[in-house]
Amino acid sequence: MATIQKAIIPAAGWGTRFLPATKAQPKEMLPIVDKPAIQFIVEEAVNAGVEDILIITGKNKRAIEDHFDRSLELEDLLREKDKGELLALVERIADLADIHYIRQKEQLGLGHAVYCARKFIGQEPFAVLLGDDIIVNTPSCLEQMLAVYEEVKAPIVAVQEVPREEVNRYGVIAPLEIDGPLIQVKDLVEKPQPAEAPSNLAVIGRYLLVPEIFPLLEMVQPGAGGEIQLTDALRLLASQDLVYAYRFQGKRYDIGDKLGFLQATVEFALARPDLAGPFREYLAGIISSALGNLQIAATKE
Ligand code: UTP
Repeated sequence: MATIQKAIIPAAGWGTRFLPATKAQPKEMLPIVDKPAIQFIVEEAVNAGVEDILIITGKNKRAIEDHFDRSLELEDLLREKDKGELLALVERIADLADIHYIRQKEQLGLGHAVYCARKFIGQEPFAVLLGDDIIVNTPSCLEQMLAVYEEVKAPIVAVQEVPREEVNRYGVIAPLEIDGPLIQVKDLVEKPQPAEAPSNLAVIGRYLLVPEIFPLLEMVQPGAGGEIQLTDALRLLASQDLVYAYRFQGKRYDIGDKLGFLQATVEFALARPDLAGPFREYLAGIISSALGNLQIAATKE
């Protein structure tokens, strides 16, 4: 049995970077080829041994609950039409895990979304996986972090190096000591200006936390962007106790960002045996015509 059995997936944000698509539907349901982003995240948690998942939802997020629920009419239809493979696919989604839901009534920030889970978590360590961050690797990012947790038994945040000019989009750590992938955290800053950032190690959407975070979340005041920031509570935690950052192996896609979504779509389609051939041909065609246009433009200059 895994040491950590509960996970929270905050998925209540407005998704303003993806408007107008997110006006009436959750960004976490945007499909990467044909699978909603949040299903990748639920699968990562389940495959890492998590038994209970709490998804934090909010306005316009009903589609998430419907996706992980049984759809008896659809199942009947697929059975009648003898579409066994699709039927198995649809049934499997509803059987993935014990998924629970709670609504964050006001979108006050990621820290507040995590705070909403305090009763569900009780006194156990737990994982947080952001509903819009897909990370591809074997072993998964969560599995890597759980293996480290077994050794250090202390909170861990996943980090990745980002270009300096992009640090103002992330929580950034001030490392105490960098020795391989495991880093002791001295401090954290949410969305620092590049010149003021203590490093270029950005916190990415995976965390292993302890219940001691909840009283700290209750204390923190709205920070960057007027939101209750998880980073600010982690900062208090790091001033009292050991907090680690872990430089994970894997490629991360920010599905809440248009470019991240497009990159994931193209790369996942290229990795799919049923699509890779024709899709590669299509891409090669548009690339060669774009290069041709570039050459024509260059000869005219
Ligand atoms: P983001 O900052 O990426 O989400 O939060 P957002 O606010 O929806 O996005 P933009 O910036 O407006 O485009 C990271 C994760 O935390 C959740 C989001 O759903 C996302 O999965 N979140 C954020 C909440 O659950 N509640 C909040 O109040 C804020």
